[in-house]
Amino acid sequence: MSDPTESTIHARYPEHLRQQVDAYLDALWFDAGDAGEVADAHGTEGLVEAMRYSLLAGGKRIRPVLALATAESLGRDPAEIMPSAAAIELVHTYSLIHDDLPAMDDDDLRRGMPTCHTVYGDDVAILAGDALFAEAVRLVCEHQPGGPEVKVGILRELSTATGVTGMVGGQFLDLTGAGGRGADALTAMHALKTGRLMAVSVHIALVLAPPPAAQDRIYRAFASELGLLFQIVDDILDVDGSEEVLGKAVGADERMGKVTYTSLHGMDRARALAAESHARAMALLGDLPGPVDDLAAITDAAFARQR
Ligand code: IPE
Ligand code: IPE
Ligand code: MG
Ligand code: MG
Ligand code: MG
Repeated sequence: MSDPTESTIHARYPEHLRQQVDAYLDALWFDAGDAGEVADAHGTEGLVEAMRYSLLAGGKRIRPVLALATAESLGRDPAEIMPSAAAIELVHTYSLIHDDLPAMDDDDLRRGMPTCHTVYGDDVAILAGDALFAEAVRLVCEHQPGGPEVKVGILRELSTATGVTGMVGGQFLDLTGAGGRGADALTAMHALKTGRLMAVSVHIALVLAPPPAAQDRIYRAFASELGLLFQIVDDILDVDGSEEVLGKAVGADERMGKVTYTSLHGMDRARALAAESHARAMALLGDLPGPVDDLAAITDAAFARQR
């Protein structure tokens, strides 16, 4: 399933937005010049190769697609948020490269391909992740349309969602169990490690096109709910998913002794909690005035996905 054109995640998933995201990402070479010029003067081609290997391996692109769909629902051209949407996918890809390292989840398969470190070595994989984060910041600075307040607002959202109060903090809790092993600790950990990077996809569109405060609150509640839903389903798929369809190992959480929705609540309860989360997210969308069809389709996909 590494070919992004090979199968839909869900019948209603906005494939047209995913294709726009894929085309944009494919043109990124991370050199100082225009797309297509490799930075051969510096001898860093091997680093760029490792970055592009993981970036273009065929992810679902749900985070950038969510940003585009949110901008659309706010009456904006999705292309206006594309550089920042792509930046989130760069940060997400960096998180996956590091998540798969032997020192973390120690996984060999990602997006249907051998993980970055198994191909390029742990050292280059660490650097590829580091560089993707920095390049994400550069992408926003250099290419995001809008004035300084839009760029700084987006960078603030992105860095907050990535750092201690975001993905990295959540990964720390996941690996150390320092937040505790109960149900509330699990939900809090999920909100950080996966929820924040999902939610920020909605937040950056709110920075670009701020709606009235009442709508802003609904968008933010929806964004948090979708992040939670996404990780509950990720935990379920780690137990009952197919490695071939998922493009990553199943049973990895149990092997690593991770606390997950299924380990803590059991499969039936985890499925029920996912259904409740999906219903809450859809109800929030129902309270928004904009065209929310694509957002609803993404929410359905987050719930019903098999990969
Ligand atoms: C996997 O994310 C890691 C989690 C945060 C659950 P995705 O399921 O979005 O992975 P890709 O981007 O489609 O490969
Ligand atoms: C990872 O969660 C979340 C990240 C910040 C990368 P998992 O460890 O459950 O993700 P997968 O299952 O390996 O994709
Ligand atoms: Mg992990
Ligand atoms: Mg993992
Ligand atoms: Mg997982």
